[in-house]
Formats: sequence, structure tokens, C-alpha cells
Amino acid sequence: MTRVLVVGGGGREHALVRTLLRSPTRPEVLCAPGNAGIARDGVECLSGADPVAAAQERSADLVVIGPEAPLVAGVVDELTASEITAFGPTRAAARIEGSKAYAKELMRECGVPTAAHVLLRDREEAATHLACASYPAVLKADVLAAGKGVIIAADERDARAALDVFFSEKRFGETQVVLEEFLEGEELSLLALCDGVRAVPLAPAQDYKRIFDGGRGPNTGGMGSYSPVPGFDDERVSELARRVHQPIVDDLRRRGTPYHGVLYAGLMMTAAGPKVLEFNCRFGDPETQAVLPRLRSDLLELLAAATRAGGLAAVDPEWSQDWAVTVVLASRGYPESSSKGDVISGLDEVDAEVFHAGTAERDGDIVTAGGRVLNVTGLGATPGEARDRAYAAAEQIRFDGKQMRTDIAARAVDRVEA
Ligand code: AMP
Ligand code: GLY
Repeated sequence: MTRVLVVGGGGREHALVRTLLRSPTRPEVLCAPGNAGIARDGVECLSGADPVAAAQERSADLVVIGPEAPLVAGVVDELTASEITAFGPTRAAARIEGSKAYAKELMRECGVPTAAHVLLRDREEAATHLACASYPAVLKADVLAAGKGVIIAADERDARAALDVFFSEKRFGETQVVLEEFLEGEELSLLALCDGVRAVPLAPAQDYKRIFDGGRGPNTGGMGSYSPVPGFDDERVSELARRVHQPIVDDLRRRGTPYHGVLYAGLMMTAAGPKVLEFNCRFGDPETQAVLPRLRSDLLELLAAATRAGGLAAVDPEWSQDWAVTVVLASRGYPESSSKGDVISGLDEVDAEVFHAGTAERDGDIVTAGGRVLNVTGLGATPGEARDRAYAAAEQIRFDGKQMRTDIAARAVDRVEA
């Protein structure tokens, strides 16, 4: 039997675990550290364990890394050095998420469309560029910042205030800053599995980054998602992957740092065509919670194939015709602060898939553990049906201080049903 270790403990990892458990080869799945919901699915959670040590001790056949931080730090290189097969990019390839300046360099080199930019290495250099930039403009820290390192400046005054955040307050530590053109349009998350040679797109998704309805309030890790996305049929998705993901995979192969794992492109559909906002070196959260419940192929086989050079050559993932809508339930105060320890009720009565993120078990109860708490995914033959199911379940699940957006996938419903 194949033993798979999933590294991470959020909603994305719960979706990965549950989809791996559906594999016809019936693998044994372990998770480090996991969460209360993953444990409830009968998966052993190795809390406090170093992933490399855990993989060695438990003789894992495959390690699947969820979050970006261990990938950017080189956990795949460490696992490979210990002769353990790992799904995810090496440290060199994961730089595409770790450094926005590096991602821009790659995109320029291979002609992948993205916002025009300049690199600000220090305050003096920055001041000159701010004076001649056009506004609004976007400033981004050149380090991992969990989605929080982006400031949109309406005018030069705002941009100068942003420089204080980056260079004086050093909120993100020592970092250079990417100053880029503000793009307008609809966002699309398009993820592709990569085997060092080929990029195979997954079903497209859309996520909702702001905390409040209508895209108001501060950015979060993501308050909801849905898949597929109206207007993005197989042909259009393949074309986007040819223009965006494949050139990067080709370039990294030429550079001797082949990309294995999942390559996430955050795209803006502008009037001048699609442009890349960012690349991530991992599955999206919460996109994964909407995408994977629709996967009909064997996820274990796909992930294992991606670890082998050219392993995805003959692969074409199959998807259910259903729509999936994921609503995030967050704790009180999120994203600035978050409450913990509130008992969650109604979990067992819902007609939806519930993926846990910030939960814990206390005296037999499931309680909140802060941040984004749960992801509720409704499936249905139409976006409206999926959305109604997700929201019916989201209402049935109760805990003190529960926050959720009420407009997830509303536009998709209007578009498809109009
Ligand atoms: P990033 O971490 O680079 O994806 O940025 C986080 C979010 O900020 C994106 O999902 C967009 O909503 C927004 N954003 C980033 N770059 C731009 C840009 N150039 N123009 C407009 N919005 C942007
Ligand atoms: N949903 C955005 C991300 O995973 O980065």
C-alpha cells in the first residue's frame, strides 16, 4: 500500500487529504500537522513533527507539500536528498513565488504577459520612480508575505506612505519592492500540474480576497471560491496554459531547475488580454477546496506522475460536470485578529463537503482555532444549485463570531442563468 504524507494543516490540505483518500488504490494517508477535521476523517495527524523526520520515520512513499514556506525554504531538496519522493518544486524553482522580482525576470525572459514594473532597491531609488509613476500603482514586498505584502497606492502620497511601511517600519523585514502598473479586470486562478517538461492545467477557479461583500475591506487569505468559471472552457484554459505556464516550465527546464509540482498563476483578464499578477508554487487556498471535489481522475496518480520528468505526458485530468462553490467561515476579528475556542455546532447535519482549516478538538467538541475556520463546498448541476447548497450549510453551521461573505459565486450564477 502507498503511504502518503501531506504537509500542512489548513483547508487546502484537508481537501488534498480527502481527495487522496478517494484514490482507487486506497493509499494510507498521514498529515503533519493536520487539523481536527483531518483527524476526524481517520487520518493520523503528526503534530509538532518535522516533515522530513516524519517522512523518514514513517517511510512515506510520497510527500505532498501544501504551503509555500517549506517549499521556498527547500523542503523538497531535503526530502530528495533523503531519497524520499516529494510533490512540489525545489527551492530553486519555488523562487517563482519567493521573489516577485525573480518571477518578473522569468516572465520577461519568456514573454509571459504581466504588469509593467520597476524594482525599487532602496528609498532613494524609490523616490525618483514614484514621482514619474502613473497612479493608481501597486507596490509589492519582494518576500513571502502571506498575501499581505501588496499595497495599492491611489496617488504619490499613498505610495510614499507605502515606502515607510516597506523601508522604515520594515513590516516585511529587509526587502526590495516591486512597483507595478495597476491592472483592471476580472481575476482568474489557473493552476497547472507540472512534471518538469509539461504544464497540464487544472479546472479554472475564482477566489475572493477581500473580507467583505462587494470586494470591500482588507485582503485576506481568501473568503471563498468557485469552479469552473463561466467563459473559460477547456479550449480557453489550454490556450492560457500554453501562453502562461508552459513558457515558464520550458524556461526553468533550460535553466537546469525544472519545475515539478503545481504552478499557480493569478491572472487579471484586462482589456489588453490576460496578464499575470503573481505566480505561486503550490495549490491555492481556497481554490483547491472548490477544484478538487470536481476531480474524477485519481489525484494520487497525478501527483506521483508530476514527480517524474515527463511523467504527465499522456495525462488529461477528468472533471465532473458539477459546479462547486466554497464559502469560508472565518472567526470574529479576522483578518486583523481572531478569536479562538468557540464551540462549533451543526457540522454533521449539512449537505455539503466541509473542509476544516482553523479548528481544534476539545473535550469531544470541535472548537474554533482562529483565522479561517471552515470551508463549506456545495456541489450542484448549476452554479445556483451549488451556491444554494453551500450557503444552506454555511448557515446551519454555527459558532460565536462567525463571519462569511454572502456574495460568493453570485456573478457566476447571474452569468450562467441570465
Ligand atoms: P499578489 O499577492 O501579487 O497576487 O497580490 C494580491 C492581490 O492584490 C491580487 O490578487 C490582486 O487582487 C491585487 N493586485 C496585485 N497586483 C495587482 C496589480 N498589478 N493591479 C491590480 N491589482 C493587483
Ligand atoms: N487564494 C489565493 C492563494 O492561495 O494564494
